[in-house]
Amino acid sequence: MGSLNICQSARLVDIITDNTTKIEAYRQERGLCPLSLGPDASLDVKYPPHVEQCRRALIDASLELGDLATGPLELRLVPGWAVMTMFGVTQFICNFDIAPRVPLTGDVSYESLSKTVNVSASVLRQVLRAGMPYHMFYEPRPGYVAHTATTKVMAREPLITDWTRLSTDVLLPAGAGLTEALTKEPAANDPAKTGFMFTKGGGESGMFMYLEKHPELARQFAGVMGAFQKDDAYAPRHLLNSWSDNLQTGKLVDLGGSLGAVAFALADEFPKLEIVVQDLPGVLEGAEVRTGKNVSFMPHDFFNEQPVKDADVYMFRWVLHNWPDLHVQRILKALIPSLKPGAKIIIFDEIMPPAGTMSLSVERYQRNIDFGMLTLFNSKIRDIEEWKEVITQSDQRFKVTDVRFPENSRLSLIEIAWQP
Ligand SMILES: C[S@@+](CC[C@H](N)C(=O)[O-])C[C@H]1O[C@@H](n2cnc3c(N)ncnc32)[C@H](O)[C@@H]1O
Repeated sequence: MGSLNICQSARLVDIITDNTTKIEAYRQERGLCPLSLGPDASLDVKYPPHVEQCRRALIDASLELGDLATGPLELRLVPGWAVMTMFGVTQFICNFDIAPRVPLTGDVSYESLSKTVNVSASVLRQVLRAGMPYHMFYEPRPGYVAHTATTKVMAREPLITDWTRLSTDVLLPAGAGLTEALTKEPAANDPAKTGFMFTKGGGESGMFMYLEKHPELARQFAGVMGAFQKDDAYAPRHLLNSWSDNLQTGKLVDLGGSLGAVAFALADEFPKLEIVVQDLPGVLEGAEVRTGKNVSFMPHDFFNEQPVKDADVYMFRWVLHNWPDLHVQRILKALIPSLKPGAKIIIFDEIMPPAGTMSLSVERYQRNIDFGMLTLFNSKIRDIEEWKEVITQSDQRFKVTDVRFPENSRLSLIEIAWQP
């Protein structure tokens, strides 16, 4: 066992050395500073695929080596404190608007900062110092505080603060509420009885209805979802690239299509497709019709019978993972009265890869999202067998005719034909 661990750590050190060298060489060639979280670090470096691969390998090996060195006992004992600190400090930074109050260059004294946030200088120092080992702010000289790259990005990009606030005000309470939720509702199949709903949203029928009644949170949520979409792995082109040739004309209904970003991308590519975007009325208040685009908007709750009859395609892009199985079945069943034989249903969504086939960082990311689905919606990221099961359990006449995994896309395509 001892020699096995030596081999394992030595192998990880090799991976770390090799990939760090390659990344730093690339950065040097491009005139970028060496890897840093300091105040002058480049905030958002996009690497080409071969360097991005090195970065992933470096992250994975560093995580593993760090865990090995930490050891089994500390691994269990320490995270509670770390999570509490990161959570509390981050929430304080967001809600007291600290990042924009610290100058982007230079520093500010605790004394003067404390006057603008109305918290005593000594408590302010205590809280901000707790965040410093997590790369949030630093003290360039005694009594003064300045940005690191990770807080500077919060000052520059309000969206990052929205994102962070969503983590502290929604995701963390949702996770903390899981035990209560499962104690009271062990079946975990009701979106109104999730960890989030028990800690925050009591009385609503689920997260989306809660958002309808909390416009500021809804704005943050929509912004963050929009930011997700900017990640190339969620880009609409993956849907366009995997789109069937025979679905480029006729009528398409985009259920839960939000403000139509994907619909407009489809309309640009396939101008002969007539697209109806449906979503909840509150969401569609922000929708804008664009002249010359074959896209219209229609408020519709997808649990009710589908009002657009005989369309060629009904699409759910990045929608159904938010719902427990019974609700997915209700959503699909609500289409049936309007379906003509041969109509297609497209699900373009996350498909969980088989357990144990992902690298450590990817597995953590996927499981984080999956866990979030449970605590927010009582739903899950389904693997392909779970998708097929929920589809055919809705109605045997739904036939899965194709599954496509576009390269570099986080979302995959399931094509279903209605065969009565
Ligand atoms: C994760 S977003 C996906 C948005 C869009 N399809 C995309 O790919 O960017 C899920 C969408 O489902 C919508 N939604 C939630 N409940 C709904 C309901 N009962 N009826 C219609 N739309 C709903 C939400 O408002 C939200 O726009």
